[in-house]
Amino acid sequence: MTNSTELNKAQETSLSRDFTTLTRHVLSQSGGFSPAAYDLSLLMGRIALAGKMIGRHLSQAGLTADALGVTGEINIQGEAVKKMDQYANRIFIRAFEQSGLVCRLASEEMEKPYYIPENCPIGRYTLLFDPIDGSGNIDTNLAVGTIFSIRQQEGNDETEEALDLLQSGHKQVGAGYILYGSSTMFVYSIGKGVHAFTLDPSLGEFILSTTNIQIPSHGSTYSINEGNFWQWDEGMREYIRYVHKQSGYSARYSGALVADIHRILFQGGVFIYPGSQENPDGKLRLLYESAPLAYLVTQAGGKATTGSQDIMDVVPKKLHARTPLIIGSPEDVDLVLSFSQTEVELPNKG
Ligand code: F6P
Repeated sequence: MTNSTELNKAQETSLSRDFTTLTRHVLSQSGGFSPAAYDLSLLMGRIALAGKMIGRHLSQAGLTADALGVTGEINIQGEAVKKMDQYANRIFIRAFEQSGLVCRLASEEMEKPYYIPENCPIGRYTLLFDPIDGSGNIDTNLAVGTIFSIRQQEGNDETEEALDLLQSGHKQVGAGYILYGSSTMFVYSIGKGVHAFTLDPSLGEFILSTTNIQIPSHGSTYSINEGNFWQWDEGMREYIRYVHKQSGYSARYSGALVADIHRILFQGGVFIYPGSQENPDGKLRLLYESAPLAYLVTQAGGKATTGSQDIMDVVPKKLHARTPLIIGSPEDVDLVLSFSQTEVELPNKG
């Protein structure tokens, strides 16, 4: 092969990589050029734009006045609102105003869904999101994320939230997250595998970096806040004692669910946020955290459960319902369950 042929081949490879942008990928995954497929690709493009703006703000957090620290308000979850939480929530609203894409936005930061009336007669989708997941990490320049979940819009007025919001995770038509780490990554699924994109800052585009991610059936990571040890039930404490006695396990817990799930999606393992005596439903929100991540991890061949029910089957009674979460590699999730469900056989237990 001549040098120029090799050069052409290398250029072609790099060009086809650079042209596999997020919106093009969503369109090809949606199976054609129908109006619904175009809308979904536009919607994903808008989420990506919001993510780029949030990422830009985060990258300058130490230099701008409105990025670090708290606003002084308390949100619907009873937590102090961070300036970045508020900023990121606003970015999402602005991204979807006058887009014609979604009628209802539901966010972890807002007590009620936000309606965009001009979009309602023509919108097809409802978007749920956690604008900044792990916001406690912001002030110390550690990884944070954004989580999103897409549902088909049902009904188009302000009284019909139960139609598309208070439903099980099976109603999701897509879900994903953006990880603001050493690079910014966009990971999504619309029911045809899980795909990861990396932001190329020189192009300002998310470019496909890993396609069809399959979670390993087992991994060495267990990710749980062990500071809560004495608040868990005995089964959970036994699981922790068990992994302490085994070789080959590593504890990894970043304080940002998206970052911990990202590691587990690629390398295997299990993330656990159990219920406690004080909070039997744990901390994580079903609609903005557990259900979208369960959708993704299940698509990648993993499992997600509350401990007694598949996360995807849980129907919330209210918008901000919480749920315990055990999620990750199938063998590792089963191992955790085996400590609360005696019927599962355990190798080398004790
Ligand atoms: O729900 C928000 C969140 O910050 C998650 O991102 C994270 O996994 C978890 O809470 C951390 O909670 P804790 O500080 O109680 O371990």
